[in-house]
This record gives sequence, structure tokens and C-alpha cells, in this order.
Amino acid sequence: MLKIFLIGLLLSLIPLLLNYASRREYPTPPSGGAAVVLSGASTGIGYDAAVHLADDFVVYAGVRKENDAEMLRSVGKSTLVPVILDVTSQDSIDEAYVKITADAAERGIPVWGLVNNAGIMTASTVEHHDVAGMQKIYDVNVWGVLRLTQKFLPLLRAQAGRIVQISSIAGFLTIPRASGYCSSKHALESLSDGLRLELAHYNVSVTVVQPGAVRSAIFEKSQSASQAKLAEDPRELKVYGHMIKEGSTDSIMAKADTPDCTTKAIRQALMDRYPKTREVVANIDGLPAIFAHYMKHMLPDRVLDKMLLSTFA
Ligand SMILES: *[C@@H]1O[C@H](CO)[C@@H](O)[C@H](O)[C@H]1NC(C)=O
Repeated sequence: MLKIFLIGLLLSLIPLLLNYASRREYPTPPSGGAAVVLSGASTGIGYDAAVHLADDFVVYAGVRKENDAEMLRSVGKSTLVPVILDVTSQDSIDEAYVKITADAAERGIPVWGLVNNAGIMTASTVEHHDVAGMQKIYDVNVWGVLRLTQKFLPLLRAQAGRIVQISSIAGFLTIPRASGYCSSKHALESLSDGLRLELAHYNVSVTVVQPGAVRSAIFEKSQSASQAKLAEDPRELKVYGHMIKEGSTDSIMAKADTPDCTTKAIRQALMDRYPKTREVVANIDGLPAIFAHYMKHMLPDRVLDKMLLSTFA
């Protein structure tokens, strides 16, 4: 096992060197100020990023509810501007676009960056995932990104701006009873690769941030939704009860990082001269999440399966 690990570590030096040698320079934020649109700013990763990015940008922080907008206003930064935004609704996006472009024009700054952060999660086995439930996940995590990106892309392209996608280690690793979420993040990864290739000519950088466990409301929301679903329809419990252990992810969540790490990665993706294409951040069960990346790409499926099943089942 140790030998495999050491050989793997050595082999991973080659891509690391290539990665450095192939880094690409992109235009940095305009010196006269710039605006960034961020979705899902009410809690967790999005909230922390919105509040801190407001030190360097005018942040249009998308939230769905008026009381969340009020909460962001109470932070008291004139550069943190809450906007009502529901990424599942084209009308909501269109309305937000009008408000954002008008406000940015008034401030005399371009809309330069987009952070696709809004995301939801539901726990269920593939067998029992109702189609409507999975469509709901995709409506936020995939179609929501598509809608918002398509709307703002002409502005970003004209300014050689930047796009940051908040994916997850679920973008390359699938865990049991989370195929809806994991497959949506896999889709986001591919969508982002396509964007990066298509926008290379226009010097618009696309960075995918892949966090491990970060303290965020997404897990609690997902857990309570999953428990409600199990109570309503116990069929899943009957067939997959051996996988549904009370508190099986408690240790992972107890060790979750604060959103400082995601905010730092988002900031770098927006500001560095050499933005990364991808960045794995935070930890998973105490191990740096980058190890999950190595494991996924170096270990055979059956070996990885054993590790995942021992943790999640
Ligand atoms: C992209 O950046 C390169 C290098 O700075 C520049 O030569 C090129 O004209 C830019 N492309 C566009 C479409 O602006």
C-alpha cells in the first residue's frame, strides 16, 4: 500500500510540473474597479465569499429572499449589494440583470466576474431518487449555472472577465446516496471545461473550485429533507437501511473547514494573473480533500469502493 502511494506521489509530480509550465496569463481586474455577480449568497460559502470579495469588488450578491437581502445590507458595506435572484427562474435572472447593469453603470464599473455558487443537495439512492427531486437539483446546480452564465457572458466576454464555478469534490468523486448531487456536479465540471475552451480566445478565465467538507447549510438542509422523505416513503429504508446510518457523516461535518478556504480560492480565481483551471480545497474527514482527488485518479474503482463503503455504508 505504502509503495503504491509513494509511486503515485512521484507520478503526480509530472502533472504538477506540467501544470506550472502550462499556466496561462489572463487580464487582471480593471484598476478602476469592477463588479462581480455571485449566486447563493445567503449562507455558507456564498455568504462568506460575498462579504469578503466586497473588499476588492462591488459584489452583486444573489439571494432568493428579502430577509436575506436585509441581512446582507446589515453587514453595512456599500460594495456589498444584495440582489433578489432565483437561478431556477429566467424571469428572476432577467430582472436581476437589469438592476445589476443599471447599478454598475451608475457606479461607472464593468460587470467583470461571475461566481456560480448556488447549489442544493438531496440524499437518496439512485433506485429511490424521484425524478422530480433530481430535476430540482439539476435546475439549480446545472440549468441555474447555464441560465446565469448565458445571461452575463456577453458582458464578461466584452471585458475579458472571469468565471468561477463552485463545484465540489463530488465533481469527480461519487458517494452512495448522493448520486443526484454528485452527477449534477460532474455535469458542472464538463460544462466548465467546455466554457474554458470556448472562452480561451476571449481571455475569459474559468476556474472550478472543488471544496471538500465546508461548514455550510447545504448539509443540514439536505439531511432534514432526506429524513422527511424517508419518513414519508420508507421503501428506501427497507432496501438500503444498511447504508442509512444515523450520523454517518457527523465526523466529516465535525471536521469541516470554515469557508475561509473557499473564499481564498475564489478570490485568487478572480484576481491572480495566472488563474488555476481547478482547485481542490478544504478537507474530508480530516484529510486534505486533494487526497480524494489522487485516490480517485490513481486507485482502481474496486479499491476506492471499499474505502467509500467503509465510510458511508
Ligand atoms: C487575449 O490576450 C492576448 C494576450 O494578451 C492578446 O494578444 C489577444 O488579442 C487577446 N484576445 C482578445 C480576443 O482580446
